[in-house]
Amino acid sequence: MKTWTKEERYRVLKSADEIRPLHESIVKSDYRQHYHIQSVTGLLNDPNGFVFHDGVWHLFYQWCPWGAVHGLKYWYHTISEDLVRWKNAGVCIRPDTEYDNKGAYSGSALPTGDNLYLYYTGNHRDDDWTRRPYTCLVDLKDNGTVLKLPPLFGMNEGYTEHQRDPKIIYNEKNGRYYIILGAQTLDKKGCCIIYSSDSPTENWSFAGQLNVPGFEDFGDMWECPSIESISGYDVLLFCPQHLTLPDRGGSVHHSGYLLGHMDWDTLTFTPDNTRFHVLDFGFDSYAAECAANPNDKNKATLVAWMGLPDASYPTDEEEWSGCLTLPRELRVRDHRLIQQPLDELRALRGKKIDLESTDILPRVCELELISRGGNLTLRLFSKSDRTGGLTIAYDDSAKEITVDRSGMKRLFNTEQGQQRTRPLPKGLFHLRIFVDRSSVEIFVNDGDAVFSSRIFPTAEEDRMFIEGDASVHLWELSRAVEESFVV
Ligand code: FRU
Repeated sequence: MKTWTKEERYRVLKSADEIRPLHESIVKSDYRQHYHIQSVTGLLNDPNGFVFHDGVWHLFYQWCPWGAVHGLKYWYHTISEDLVRWKNAGVCIRPDTEYDNKGAYSGSALPTGDNLYLYYTGNHRDDDWTRRPYTCLVDLKDNGTVLKLPPLFGMNEGYTEHQRDPKIIYNEKNGRYYIILGAQTLDKKGCCIIYSSDSPTENWSFAGQLNVPGFEDFGDMWECPSIESISGYDVLLFCPQHLTLPDRGGSVHHSGYLLGHMDWDTLTFTPDNTRFHVLDFGFDSYAAECAANPNDKNKATLVAWMGLPDASYPTDEEEWSGCLTLPRELRVRDHRLIQQPLDELRALRGKKIDLESTDILPRVCELELISRGGNLTLRLFSKSDRTGGLTIAYDDSAKEITVDRSGMKRLFNTEQGQQRTRPLPKGLFHLRIFVDRSSVEIFVNDGDAVFSSRIFPTAEEDRMFIEGDASVHLWELSRAVEESFVV
């Protein structure tokens, strides 16, 4: 595998022509996705600034142009009218000031009038590589002009250098703006810190550390925090780092949430119970971000990076990596978040496949299974001799579902385990599975549990087999993201 020097990773992109050959070579990859947002070149990680503004959904991603490596980060912009068909809109935030000299890191968006304010972390490093993060602001005009405003505030000396990922929140009740940042206390505990102001662009001051009773010692840094309101509940989303959790293999990276109530006067988030809920039970999901629904306070839309920090993927050798999950509809049911595929996705359904006549699994498809009860085993990407593949097995006596990717030929990130199991106390009644050229997303029981994973099948891994009593429907899906080189 390629080793990168610091100079190579942090090289500044001066012209699109520098990466055009890279784009032309990666679009030939067998693993390029057909309906998931993926990097135009190089590496994609977190979704950023996901918001609805003036009839259009805006979604940005963390982007390193040069290859499958975390180096100098830009914000790359994509847009959609229906959350399904996405267009590349080009680079938006460039790390071109002293404040963000080593990267424009993750953040969020606030629509106001004829512009979007984009809040992000300027990852500044001194010559001796000491990090000093700034909370920075961009005014993105509807005509496409990107105007950098002075940073809102610098590093908080009461915490370590790990303070980043601003989420902007407007509190209608008191008319104030809040920025919540992921941070690390001086004794290396993960937390959030909060700033507030009467204006989105100036007068920001430190308000304090977020109190989260019961979660004072929960990982050593909280990345990508946000607080969303859905159906009268407050949801604190964050990614606690370097923590192992039950049923998560050896993984130390988790994207999850607490459901509860936020008191902005005392800066206290009181969870309803002591449970940290993992958002996605698959192998590859991190840094989830929500967009509020402009018309309905009972739902929001969630998207995540279908990947993990400190991990490598088979496409690294092709010099690209990373894609986002499908945007999902988020609701609260039974004191938990429920994630469902968006209705709009049905528009991608093409030819319906007759399963009596073939066992070939199309590389881009949707499967729906309605169980009639009992055990169910579904093997995707098996070989023609029925061996190998990704196994989804429901055990009715144990009332649990297991996703196992150890049968795939191309294994990766094996240290975090190759199986994930989830209890289903009410049994299995429904599965919707979205297969793209290098990913699988499994929605169990109408959004009760979701498993998202990257998967890199070889040519001989092209069959599917089902054992159990279920009615099964299979559709090919059409392409929804273009491979356009817009930089
Ligand atoms: C999470 C993260 C963020 C940071 C960004 C840099 O994956 O580490 O905390 O802002 O990625 O790309």
